[in-house]
Amino acid sequence: MRTFTLLLIAFAMTFSAQAQKQCGTEAYQERIRQEFPLSLMKQGIPVSQTVAGGTTPTAPGLSQVIIIPVVVHVLYNNESNNLSEAVINRQIEILNRDFNLAGDDASKIPSAFSPRAGVANIRFQLAKVDPDGRATTGINRKKSSREFWGNDDKIKDPASGGVKPWDSRSYLNIWVGNLVPGLLGYSSAPGGPAHLDGVVIRTNVFGGGSGSFSMGRTTVHEVGHWLNLKHLWGDGECGSDGVDDTPQQRRYNQGCPSFPKLNTTCGDGNSAGEMFMNFMDFTDDACMLMFSNGQISRMRETFAAGGIRESIRFSRALGEPWNNGVTTTPAANGTASTQISVSVYPNPASSNITFSSKGANLAGTRYTLYTLDGRRVQEGMLSNEQTSLNVSSLRPGLYFVKLSGVDQALRFVRQ
Ligand code: ARG
Ligand code: ZN
Ligand code: CA
Repeated sequence: MRTFTLLLIAFAMTFSAQAQKQCGTEAYQERIRQEFPLSLMKQGIPVSQTVAGGTTPTAPGLSQVIIIPVVVHVLYNNESNNLSEAVINRQIEILNRDFNLAGDDASKIPSAFSPRAGVANIRFQLAKVDPDGRATTGINRKKSSREFWGNDDKIKDPASGGVKPWDSRSYLNIWVGNLVPGLLGYSSAPGGPAHLDGVVIRTNVFGGGSGSFSMGRTTVHEVGHWLNLKHLWGDGECGSDGVDDTPQQRRYNQGCPSFPKLNTTCGDGNSAGEMFMNFMDFTDDACMLMFSNGQISRMRETFAAGGIRESIRFSRALGEPWNNGVTTTPAANGTASTQISVSVYPNPASSNITFSSKGANLAGTRYTLYTLDGRRVQEGMLSNEQTSLNVSSLRPGLYFVKLSGVDQALRFVRQ
């Protein structure tokens, strides 16, 4: 009998944990705060004040568009969950729609709240340049034998079959994969560890979906977290989300409540009731319609001078590729020669250049630097996939790089 009771309790606990699992972010961020105590999140430094000095840097004015370069890492284990380009583009459109109050359903926002609904003037675009300076589609696919991913960040770890993020100072990383049952997605918070920065989304709610999560709004919600937004109920009973124009809530809403949903228990004297149509509640996709002006200020503050996402504004990910990689055939050494692509970057360079070969080992390859008029100025051996070379002592100008066994020369400019 005793055993039976215990079993029943265990079952009940599992069940309620399951019921709440759809939001991975809260529990996830709490664990990261414990594991990485030195991260800014733990220290509680306001993300807009990471630079010494007492003044709060102001965010770029609302009329200034902020464009966020996006890389989508698609983890799939068979072709049926290898997302099509169309679905990925659709999700980018959805982000642009929802961050800018541009959906047809924005008209459904109750008039009591519509003055508080804002246009964030934040836009999303798939990256055009990868971290090595090469042209990219902004879509990074990887086949992995793993069937399910949890909120343990294995999806971000190559040692576990995942993919490491592209430099989070320049990209919004979105990993898409089959998540464990019940988990729709989760996000890191600004200021967390760089190698875990980004959002993770369940494949079948990315770019669309079905049932309650049919409109791609899980990604909108998670990117809200990535830009420093909290859940409306502040993850506690009548907690605070740090935003003035979102009413307090005792807890989250689900499904599609009807307006007004009056809250009589948090005691903040708000007559319009709860803002359950906000992207940061847990309602169905069809009923999430807005970010408030206060939430928008909070998100845009992360881009202010000294703000934790400021660097995104200076990202080169949407510019021209700067990596002049050439495809070459290394010296035959008895075995069949393979085509490898070697490149040198940054270009122009002022202090260091890096040789990169995307996977192929360059150990044993000799390099020689020549000036335009053929003078040899520096030489040595490359080590492995990536070799860094100090060129700060070179005079500004154009240089050629000759690699042993490689016909075509690389070029770079010392600026
Ligand atoms: N529960 C998830 C989280 O907070 C996201 C919920 C998204 N809701 C939705 N209707 N798409 O991490
Ligand atoms: Zn959330
Ligand atoms: Ca609030």
